[in-house]
Amino acid sequence: MRQSTTFEVPKIFDGASYAKVRAPLETAETLPPWCYTSEEFYRAEVGLIFMREWNFLGRADRIPEAGDFFTVNFVGVPLVVVRGEDSAVRAFSNTCRHRGAKVAQGDGNCQWFQCPYHGWIYGLDGSLKGAGGMRKTKNFDNADYGLVEVRLQTWGGFIFVNFDADAPDLLETLGDLPAELSSYDCENLVTTRRVEFDLACNWKLYIENAMEEYHLPYVHKTSLELLEMDHGIMETKGNWDAIREKHKGTRALLEEDADKGFPHIATLEGPPAEGTHYVVLYPSTMLGMTTDCVWWLELHPQSVNRTKLILGSCFPKSTVARPDFDDKVDYYYKRWDKSIIEDNDISGLQHEGVSSPFARPGRLSSHEPLVHHIANWVLDRVVEPRG
Ligand code: FES
Ligand SMILES: [Fe+2]
Repeated sequence: MRQSTTFEVPKIFDGASYAKVRAPLETAETLPPWCYTSEEFYRAEVGLIFMREWNFLGRADRIPEAGDFFTVNFVGVPLVVVRGEDSAVRAFSNTCRHRGAKVAQGDGNCQWFQCPYHGWIYGLDGSLKGAGGMRKTKNFDNADYGLVEVRLQTWGGFIFVNFDADAPDLLETLGDLPAELSSYDCENLVTTRRVEFDLACNWKLYIENAMEEYHLPYVHKTSLELLEMDHGIMETKGNWDAIREKHKGTRALLEEDADKGFPHIATLEGPPAEGTHYVVLYPSTMLGMTTDCVWWLELHPQSVNRTKLILGSCFPKSTVARPDFDDKVDYYYKRWDKSIIEDNDISGLQHEGVSSPFARPGRLSSHEPLVHHIANWVLDRVVEPRG
């Protein structure tokens, strides 16, 4: 097909530019390519989405003891997440209150954070405990210079942070998710592995990929079983969507290893006992909740075209305690490691493709309802932002 080579400057914050994305699925177009490649659109997403929503940061059992901490850079914000003496988990801006250096690096355990620049010392609760050399500075009170705390709340052992002091609480945002998925007993799952990847794609391409099964016979032709094509999209209340698939066995093993799995999660009842829930926790997390374990894909946007991905997995305590756990869990890791590389590769190819000046909005299949939901969820906030 011949395309005009006259390029118009897109009106990226004009609702009229998205009328076809707003249409019902059967007639809808995909997001225009600039939504994945424009610096300006990305900056608006950071301000209107990531600075306002509850952002997923993995599991609290990553830092089980007082003084355990990890650092993260989330949409350009350096954070340190730490378990205090009182065993509460807190998040702080990882920015010294003197002249701004990062006070913590990597992860580990400590009794306090000492800034590497001029040695200011902060307690695990963020309070400034010591600031040598400040004796002659007038009107200086340590109490005014603690690390800036960021809201942190948990559900089911999962950590979420929110940069917006006025945002509704996490549980209110999650709506009916905790009730629908309560029988997974997420609080009592044990994290067994987390693996990080650097992706050469916009964050939306990856979460869209995670929420549609249309690509399975092509991208995962030798790895994943086909989902039932008439799977159910759940009716949800709250900031999540999900595909509910009914099947026997687990979705966390390759077909060739289907007989090597662990027992099902004993607490499951209702629909969770009958198959798998593929959940998108807006904005940028996917939970795979199957019959014997839970895995997650956690996305940390780094820029418009770079995204950090964390693949995590957790199992019930009783499964982890089995003598054959270490041997058998490798079959699960084999399945995730195979399919994740396939998804990472296709997302990189897609990002290169949509970066072309000849890229145009595409059309959606009936197998991509959640790609449509995700696009509209983003537009609701970026193009027609709430107050
Ligand atoms: S920047 Fe941290 S002590 Fe100076
Ligand atoms: Fe995939």
